[in-house]
Amino acid sequence: MISCSNPGVRAVQNIFLRRVGEYGIRKCLLEDLPSIISINWAALPEHYSDSFFEERLRESPETFLVAEDAKGTIIGYVMCRIEYGFSHLKRYGLARKGHVVSVAVLEAHRGKGIGKALMEEALKGMKERGCSETYLEVRVSNDSAITMYKNLGFQTVTTHHGYYRDGEDAYLMSKAL
Ligand SMILES: CC(C)(COP(=O)(O)OP(=O)(O)OC[C@H]1O[C@@H](n2cnc3c(N)ncnc32)[C@H](O)[C@@H]1OP(=O)(O)O)[C@@H](O)C(=O)NCCC(=O)NCCS
Repeated sequence: MISCSNPGVRAVQNIFLRRVGEYGIRKCLLEDLPSIISINWAALPEHYSDSFFEERLRESPETFLVAEDAKGTIIGYVMCRIEYGFSHLKRYGLARKGHVVSVAVLEAHRGKGIGKALMEEALKGMKERGCSETYLEVRVSNDSAITMYKNLGFQTVTTHHGYYRDGEDAYLMSKAL
């Protein structure tokens, strides 16, 4: 427990789910969305409407998280969707699933454990929401993301051919929670 004589500073510290060095992981706020949308444009070829981000936040704030630096600037996020449908892990049957829709860290801040921490905290949020499994799609060429997911315990379930607009295939990766 960090002791602090300034109550204002302590209030800010308490909003973090976790610290990663100088960075903090916390739940996304509505006012964070413009920063998140700009990181999404900088880091990924898949983009979404503003209302899509708003809906994900309204629907599942436990699994929409941001990473901020020491100055309070948002430098990464993870956004998920809670779904109910066929299990990716059981041969038959339905499951409540946490779908990792988008995760990104600005290039200058990568390789410091932030992506992994965002994912781990989002997986905790999915469990809180009663999910029994999680899944995501990832470009087959995205080695750094695939390594991160494998290290987190995801396994490749199938390949979706021509999944992305430019024709690239996606691995569907899943993990029991
Ligand atoms: C994927 C991404 C979110 C990872 O974020 P990050 O903060 O750099 O990741 P971390 O530092 O937490 O590293 C997590 C794991 O990923 C792996 N990893 C990270 N960068 C890597 C690289 N360049 N090459 C190989 N493995 C890498 C490491 O194995 C690491 O695990 P370890 O520390 O236990 O060894 C980040 O690279 C990114 O934003 N990429 C662009 C957007 C993107 O591709 N998102 C995924 C779409 S499906």
